[in-house]
Amino acid sequence: MIFEQIASGGCQSYLIGCADTCAAALIDPEVSQIDRYLALAARDGLRIHYVIDTHTHADHFSATRQLARQLDVPTVMHRASPAPIVDMRVDDGELLVVGKLRLQVMHTPGHTRDSMCLVADDRVFTGDTLLIGATGRTDLPSGDAEALYDSLFNHVLRLDPLLKVFPAHDYKGRGHSTIAQELADNPRLARQDRAAFVEMMNSLNLTMPTHITEALRTNMSGGKTVAQMLSEAAATVPFMSLQELLSRVQAADKDLIVLDVRERDAYEAGHIAGARLLPRGQLELRVNQDLPDPTRRILTCCEFGRISTLAASTLRVMGFQRAVALDGGMKAWREAGYPVTVGREP
Ligand SMILES: [Fe+2]
Repeated sequence: MIFEQIASGGCQSYLIGCADTCAAALIDPEVSQIDRYLALAARDGLRIHYVIDTHTHADHFSATRQLARQLDVPTVMHRASPAPIVDMRVDDGELLVVGKLRLQVMHTPGHTRDSMCLVADDRVFTGDTLLIGATGRTDLPSGDAEALYDSLFNHVLRLDPLLKVFPAHDYKGRGHSTIAQELADNPRLARQDRAAFVEMMNSLNLTMPTHITEALRTNMSGGKTVAQMLSEAAATVPFMSLQELLSRVQAADKDLIVLDVRERDAYEAGHIAGARLLPRGQLELRVNQDLPDPTRRILTCCEFGRISTLAASTLRVMGFQRAVALDGGMKAWREAGYPVTVGREP
C-alpha cells in the first residue's frame, strides 16, 4: 500500500494507493490542497480513480467536485448525501475496488446522516464519526446523537482493535491511533450507556465552525467558494505593484487608465490622482460608453484588491486585452503613505 496523509489546518485528507497496480483513491480532499494531492500522486506514481467524501463537510471546502472534473473520475459519497452532484453513491457493506486494495463502506450516521467509514487493509478512515480522543459533533445539520451512539458502539468500535484509525480531523498533529487506543483513552467513549452518551453529546455547546454557510452551500451544490472565484479570476490577469503604479502616476503616464471600481462615496473620500470612477456593479453596462477603446491599457483598483481582480478579469473577457489589476488595494496604498486625491471625478 502507498499512503499519504495530508493535513490542511485540522482537516486530514488521505491518498491511498495500490503499489502493484498504481491505482489510488483520495479521501476527503480540501480545495486549497489540490495541487499538493496531484503532485503527491504523480510523485508516488499513482493514478487517482475515486475522489471520496466521508460525509457532507460543514467546516471545509471539499475538492472532490473540482478534482473529479479535472481527472475525469467519479466523486463518491454515501447514498444519503444531499448533494445532487455525486457520481457514485455507495451504501453499507459495499466495496470500492482500487487496484488490489478494497475499501469497505460502513454507513455510520450520527455526525451527519451521510457519514461513512472506510475500512482498507489494516486501517479505517473514520471521517468525523470517530476522532482521536473525541467524536464528531452531532449539532450540525442532519446530526443525531442517538445514531452516533449506534454507529460507534455497535459498528466502529466492534472492528478489529488493532485497526489504525485515521480521522477526517485532528488538530493536535497526532496522525492516527487505533481502535484499541480509542476504547481505552477516548473520554467521549467512557460513557457506554446510550442515554448518558446522548445527553453528553447534546450538551457540548460547541461554537459553530467558521464558513459553515459557505461550506454547506458549496459542498452540497458543487458551487464555487468566493476564494475559488477570486483565484480563478487572478489566474487570468496580470497585476501591477503599488510602487510601479505610483511611479507611473508621478510621471503622469498618459497611456494608463486607472479605473477605480469602488462606489462613489469611497472614491470621493480618497482616490489615486487622475483615476476614473466606474463601480464594479455598473462595469458591464457602462463599458461601451466609458471605455470605447479596447486597446487601451487599463488598471483596476478597489479597496482590498479583490473586486478589482474580478473587474480586470471581466474586462479581459470583454476584449480589453491590456486590463491589469492593482496588486493590493487603496487600503494598502494609503498605508504605504502614497498620495490620494479627495473629491469628485475630474
Ligand atoms: Fe465533518
